[in-house]
Amino acid sequence: MKAISNTLLILALFLLPACKTDNRQPEPAPAETSTNRTDYHSHAQPTLAVTNHLSLNLKVDFEKQVLSGYARFDIDHQGAEEIVLDARNLQIERVTTGVGEEETEVEYRLSEPNPLLGSGLHIPLAPETAIITVYYSTSPGGADAVDWLEPQQTADKQYPFLFTQGQAILTRTWIPCQDSPGIRITYDATIEAPSELMAVMSAANPQKNDESGLYHFEMKQAIPPYLIALAVGRLEFKPIGDRTGVYAEPSVVGKAAYEFADMEKMLVAAEALYGPYLWDRYDVIVLPPSFPFGGMENPRLTFATPTIIAGDRSLTALIAHELAHSWSGNLVTNATWDDFWLNEGFTVYFERRIMEAVYGKSYADMLAQLGYQDLEADVADLGPESADTHLKLHLKGRDPDDGMTDIAYEKGAFFLTLLEEKAGRENFDRFLKQYFKAHQFQTLTTGEFVEYLNENLIDKYQLDVNIDEWIYGPGIPDNIPLPKSGRFSQVDAQVTALLAGSAPQALETGEWTTHEWLHFIRHLPTDMNPEKMKGIDQAFNFSRSGNSEILAAWFELAIGNGYASQIRPQIEAFLVRVGRRKFLTPLYRAYKENGQLETAKEIYEKARPNYHAVSRNTMDKLLEMGS
Ligand code: BES
Ligand code: ZN
Repeated sequence: MKAISNTLLILALFLLPACKTDNRQPEPAPAETSTNRTDYHSHAQPTLAVTNHLSLNLKVDFEKQVLSGYARFDIDHQGAEEIVLDARNLQIERVTTGVGEEETEVEYRLSEPNPLLGSGLHIPLAPETAIITVYYSTSPGGADAVDWLEPQQTADKQYPFLFTQGQAILTRTWIPCQDSPGIRITYDATIEAPSELMAVMSAANPQKNDESGLYHFEMKQAIPPYLIALAVGRLEFKPIGDRTGVYAEPSVVGKAAYEFADMEKMLVAAEALYGPYLWDRYDVIVLPPSFPFGGMENPRLTFATPTIIAGDRSLTALIAHELAHSWSGNLVTNATWDDFWLNEGFTVYFERRIMEAVYGKSYADMLAQLGYQDLEADVADLGPESADTHLKLHLKGRDPDDGMTDIAYEKGAFFLTLLEEKAGRENFDRFLKQYFKAHQFQTLTTGEFVEYLNENLIDKYQLDVNIDEWIYGPGIPDNIPLPKSGRFSQVDAQVTALLAGSAPQALETGEWTTHEWLHFIRHLPTDMNPEKMKGIDQAFNFSRSGNSEILAAWFELAIGNGYASQIRPQIEAFLVRVGRRKFLTPLYRAYKENGQLETAKEIYEKARPNYHAVSRNTMDKLLEMGS
């Protein structure tokens, strides 16, 4: 007996400090392959107390450029002493807690703000607390998610406009919340807008203006907070199919409906691939051109740039992409921003499968080929040995925006294409469909995905795939399935002819679409003299193209080849009007790298007030300018 208790005592002594250490010390750095779920970009401690449902109530004040009201959460905890929300640049008025209707004001604490992450908003809890309410307003100029537009910045120039952009960690600048992709909440919202304007959200939406200016929204499916989104403007709705439609300003909505006419077909194709669409409706809102992205997959309502309205429906792969996020990203979500490729790599792969189903293989092959070119360029930029070229990222202490490279998008997509090749399309499709179903409305880490992949695909079909090299290693692995495009081979032949001395007018370009033109411009020499550039421009009218992708590619080449000064008004007009970061970065960078930083700054000074904070922050850094 004594011997036993001694042993127990020794054991206890041995174990006790170990337990203590576990509880108190920061977690050791996780091994690459682990399934660590810690989100280094949020103050929330969801294992202690977690938000489940949000009731948002906000008034939109265009004069003051302020949103004000409250965010009320239903929460879950097991007797935790506090709940922690993320808040950045918010003016907090008061915080209450309660069980039912009754509210008691409590003393909250805001931690020292981190410039990137903001503060932790610590709210004390009683054991029975089930509801917390934060009364607050956004600060003018401090809410990086929100773009407040003057009428002049809209298509119709009559009314102001507002939109929000939450991903990656900006929702906390307009809503105090547990702003982590690993947490899911349902929400309802009441938004009070000026009576001439319509409000829409990533939720069930109105299709008509309500004269009262009061709009009520419900999002019944649980989503991560980065997908909460709001737009307010003079909007009209036009249906496309039974479940699809577009919102835009009156002068744009007709063009948008024409451009996106195939949306319903895309939705049907997507469902046939990976299972039913679980969000009821799929609509798109076309925003003013300062929107910093091409598209944002806010559930039920994709936010899109007007720069994809080319007039010929040639840039709608972006709609397929945002729609695909309704499965990859919105249904099955990356647990942390280090797992971003689980959102974007899957989505690019899925986007191309939708485009193949609707427009055929040769179309999807062109997209893959252009994607491969983007990937090569990004790997060269980042350095082929850089840890930023791993699929699994290391963004702790950095802006998650740094992870928005073609590694997540294209290396991710090509990895899935490789798996498809190894397993066979039928098996791989069955695997993906089952993957989405098994994890719907859940979040996943890279490690958890790899476990699932091994069990359900690799071991099952006894495949030989260098998974670790792809996911935890740098650069482009040798066994990347190189895309081939017959249509691009013909373009290559014309580039060769041009270089051999053919006049631009003599080239055979008859049937080319946007993608062939892009491939053509990308393969023109970077050391042509301005005369030659001018000749090409006269033949093909690139500088006056109505297609934003062609304009951006051509302007970049023009800056590198000393031709930009001759088309300065066109370049400047583009940079001042459009705020889509993907176009801005290469153009300003080209100026900088070609010894024309001053020109870049001159243009930027005029353009900057028109840019959303996301683009402003990137360009400020690039051009070493501040506000
Ligand atoms: N979710 C992204 C946009 C995003 C990523 C915003 C990370 C903030 C942080 C969206 O789905 C996207 O990928 N948009 C692309 C378009 C696409 C066709 C590659 C874009 O905006 O260019
Ligand atoms: Zn995406």
